[in-house]
Amino acid sequence: MLAARHDGVGVVTFNQPEKHNAISVEMWLGLADIMADFGADPSIRTVILTGAGTRAFVSGADISQFEQQRASADAQHAYDEQTAVGRQRLNAFAKPTIAMIRGYCLGGGLAIAMQADVRLASPDAQFGIPAARLGIAYGFEGLRRLVSLVGPAHARMILYTGARINADEALRIGLINRVVPADELESSTFELAHQIAANAPLSVAASKLAIDQVLLDPEDRDLAALARATAACFDSEDYREGRAAFREKRPPQFKGR
Ligand code: COA
Repeated sequence: MLAARHDGVGVVTFNQPEKHNAISVEMWLGLADIMADFGADPSIRTVILTGAGTRAFVSGADISQFEQQRASADAQHAYDEQTAVGRQRLNAFAKPTIAMIRGYCLGGGLAIAMQADVRLASPDAQFGIPAARLGIAYGFEGLRRLVSLVGPAHARMILYTGARINADEALRIGLINRVVPADELESSTFELAHQIAANAPLSVAASKLAIDQVLLDPEDRDLAALARATAACFDSEDYREGRAAFREKRPPQFKGR
């Protein structure tokens, strides 16, 4: 896993290009460390997730580890526990994340992209969940994301066929936010990241929390945390700065407090 920082934007790169960036157990652990670092770094306001090279975002879990690590329900349970910290850190990450997708975005790779807040893809991107071709099944959380993005009808097609869909189809069904020409994907993604990073961090974080809460079952929602996040915005220095900047007809300078 690679981590880089560019002017308030953190970049996480899944880096196993010889296997189309298939994600190994070690990569899940690396992802957990990077997300913890970026989460604790106040200079990082947005994070881009991407794959090394031009041919893939992530081609799914590393199937070469399946014989040793996922060959039965018990082994799968142990694998889930080992990789849970990476999933949880990504899931609970309070700042906005953008998946920048080229080429293959499959299985666990699509699950990672779906955990990002926004997905931008080049026209050559291909999306799919080949679980039924391998004989495995996805848990509740991964499928909740898929169904919340595309609805049950498209989710059924994607899962029952295991077939891949192209970027235009993915855009049409709401799986991704934008398709951008390949040679503009990086600049467009950074432009979006900087646009978000220039906004009031507490306000963006409160929106992220609110949307995440909407997607939870009512009994699992933490509306008190959401009320605290909203109140923090109204009491913030940044809200005073936002009002002053509007009055003075200048761009605001937000500090995240
Ligand atoms: N895990 C481990 N290795 C993978 C991989 C994965 N998920 N995806 C690709 N690779 C490896 C291939 O085995 C191949 O290795 P080799 O050169 O040692 O034979 C290498 O990456 C290149 O892949 P290749 O299949 O030759 O490229 P392609 O462009 O013809 O096809 C894919 C690419 C992604 C369509 C195809 O490799 C594939 O179907 N991969 C599995 C995808 C999958 O089922 N993911 C879900 C897992 S939960």
